[in-house]
Parts: sequence; C-alpha cells; structure tokens
Amino acid sequence: GFDVSKLLKQTGTVTFDPGFMNTAATTSAITYIDGDQGILRYRGYPIEQLAKHSSFLETSYLLIYGELPTPTELENFDQRIRRHTLLHEDLKGFFGGFPRDAHPMPVLSSAVSALSTFYQDSLDPFDEEQVELSTVRLMAKLPVIAAYAHKKSIGQPMLYPDNSMNLVENFMRLSFGLPAEPYEMDPDLVKALDLLLILHADHEQNCSTSTVRLVGSSNANMFASVSAGISALFGPLHGGANEAVLNMLRDIQSTGMAPETFMEKVKNKEDGVKLMGFGHRVYKNYDPRAKIVKATAHDILAKLGGNDELLDIAMRLEEKALADDYFIERKLYPNVDFYTGLIYKAMGFPEKMFTVLFAIGRLPGWIAQWREMMQDPQTKIGRPRQLYTGAPERDYPQR
Ligand code: ACO
Repeated sequence: GFDVSKLLKQTGTVTFDPGFMNTAATTSAITYIDGDQGILRYRGYPIEQLAKHSSFLETSYLLIYGELPTPTELENFDQRIRRHTLLHEDLKGFFGGFPRDAHPMPVLSSAVSALSTFYQDSLDPFDEEQVELSTVRLMAKLPVIAAYAHKKSIGQPMLYPDNSMNLVENFMRLSFGLPAEPYEMDPDLVKALDLLLILHADHEQNCSTSTVRLVGSSNANMFASVSAGISALFGPLHGGANEAVLNMLRDIQSTGMAPETFMEKVKNKEDGVKLMGFGHRVYKNYDPRAKIVKATAHDILAKLGGNDELLDIAMRLEEKALADDYFIERKLYPNVDFYTGLIYKAMGFPEKMFTVLFAIGRLPGWIAQWREMMQDPQTKIGRPRQLYTGAPERDYPQR
C-alpha cells in the first residue's frame, strides 16, 4: 500500500531489493552455482565428482583451505579433529537444562554459542592460530553436540567420543550406540551419510551462510557466527525443509490422499500449502544435489529397509510436478531436501534430527566463508538500508 518510487526519492539513491534477489554482498572464491544449468562446484570441482570420489573430511579441507589435501595434510587434519572431540564436562551439563522434548536444533545453536564461553583462548578472528584452533574445535565438537542433542531428546545416556573413529563414524556411534553394548558400524550407512554431508557442505550465499557472514562482519567470533547460522538454518523455508518434506509425505500417506489431490491444493495455494522440497532461489533447473540423492535413494532404502511407500509418493509427486504447467512456468524442481529425509529416516534418525544433519554438513562451508570474509580487505560491517514507511514527525501529546 505504498509507493516504492516515492520512498526511494525520500531516501536518496539506494537499491530496494527485498530478499536480496539481485544483490551480491561479497566476492567469493569458494562455491560456484549456475542456477539455470543446474551446476554446482566447490573450489572448481563439480559436485558429481566430489560425491563419487571424495570424503566429507576431504571436502571440508578443500572448502576451508582452498585445495585438495595431500594424504599427509588430510591425515593431520583428521588427527587434529579426533583430538578435539571431547566436550568440556560443564558444557555437557547444558543438555540437562533443556526440556526433554526440546527440538535438537535450538539445543545445537545454544551449545555452539556456549563454546565462546568455554574456549575463550580461540576467539580472536584475526589471530591465525586461534582461527585454526576454533576451526578444528568446531569441526570436532559440533557433531558430538548434535549427537548429544539427539540422545537428550530420546532420554538415552551420552557416550564419550571414541577417537579411533573418524568424524562421521564417531557421530554414528554417539547417536546410536549404548554404553553396555558394542556398536556395530554399518559401512553402507556411514558411506551414505558421508555422501549426504558432502552434498550439503556449501552453497555460497544462502540464508544461513549470509547470516554467518553478517554476524561475523561485526568481528564476532566464529562460534557466535556459526551459532547464528544454525538458527537461520532452522527455518522451514531453508534447512527445516527436509523435516517438512517427510511430514508432508506422512500426511499424504496417513490421510490416504491421492498425490494429485495434494498437488491441486498446492496449485490453488490452499492454506498456503507448498510442495516442500521444491523450488529454489537460485536453481531454475534440477538441483544437481537432488539428482545425486535421488539416484542413490533407491539403493540406500533397499539396503536399509526404508519406507518405500513414502518414496513412491515422493516420486509420484515429482513426476506430476515436472509435467505440470504451474511448476514448469515457475521453474520449480526438486531441491536437495526433497529426498534426503527418506534416507535419514531409514538410517534411524527421527525427523527432528534432519536439520541437525544438514547443519553438520554445512559446517565446513560456514567456516570457509567466515574465514574468507575475515581475510578479505573489502569486508565492511553488514548494514542494509531501509525505506521508512512509518508515521511522519509528530508531537508527543500534552496530557
Ligand atoms: N510449492 C508451490 N509453489 C511454490 C513453491 C513450492 N515449493 N516454491 C515456490 N513456489 C511458487 C511461489 O508461490 C511463487 O508463485 P507466484 O509467482 O504465483 O507467487 C513462485 O513459485 C516463486 O516462488 P518464490 O517463493 O517467490 O521464490 P523464492 O526464491 O522467494 O523462494 C524457496 C525459494 C523459499 C525455496 C521456495 O521455493 C519455497 O518455499 N520452497 C519450499 C521450501 C523448501 O523446499 N525450501 C528448501 C530450499 S533449499 C535449501 O535450503 C536446502
């Protein structure tokens, strides 16, 4: 109900770009996306090749340091991370303070924020050694915090990390192991999770990464910045979509609604219903990550005994959508989270953990972007402008 061009005249020359549809806030040498062609590359390497040949740990190194590691560099990175998995015992006390049914995402963001209070010797964003230390601490401790948030929500005891295991194996054991029983690692499961983490590892200036940068632009420390990123990721329009997709598929299954009927509701925008897991701000083509997940979903579900009925519903929704004018005109394709939830579920994770898994995957991206920003001489504090639409000047009433 207001005239934007008039407001612009009042404010002087500013760009009015809600949602930053067309505003580049930074230069970056980390991740390349071509949304029209469905291309994603980390440091120049196509996501398909990394998915096939790399590991999450190696991809994390690549994102953070810019080049693939030599075997020795990878070994050192791995060993340093293994040495930092233990959480301070007082930090563990935090988990007891949350209600039992707490969602693990705010537990994760709170505990990551609290790292600034426990590890005060690595908070200086411009001290190279401290930045290295907080990088390794975050990579090591965030998956442990994530597993504890899960254990907390199901009322099971928290195990100590086992540093004979790598980051992903340790996370699986901490999530599913029990104190009195040896945990039998399923290598297929570890491989599948490792792949999904690679696919989530960075995605240039998305909502959570931009949040990490905006908070960091005030020279806030890495823990504080990443904690804010986790909060941004929690929303259902961003990382929370993977949880929302599974809830949507479940609803369709339990009500016995035909996928066609659900699609009609979406197209008529009934009650604001969206086809969750579809659409993307940048991809106007098939999300290359979704392609990889879809190709592996069948194999993984067959091995893990996942819910094929839900996969069938998902595939029917996709098939309908890709042939429908509403979706074609708006260039809406499945994004990475359309199929991931089905796999997480088959692995044994409850829905509430899905976005936490996304956060573990996105961590190296957040760290790499934060570090790039701190090193960039062009960095300035993030401070958008506004167009004021409130009351004009008025006098305080005399009473
Ligand atoms: N289902 C139905 N319609 C949709 C969907 C969808 N999933 N996504 C977009 N549209 C429609 C919009 O209603 C709009 O229609 P209109 O032109 O008739 O008004 C049009 O397509 C354009 O969509 P916008 O919302 O303007 O696109 P934007 O770039 O702002 O939003 C977003 C992108 C948030 C991802 C959106 O597509 C969405 O809400 N998708 C569902 C949630 C989701 O899956 N999020 C995960 C994103 S990927 C990630 O974070 C890993």
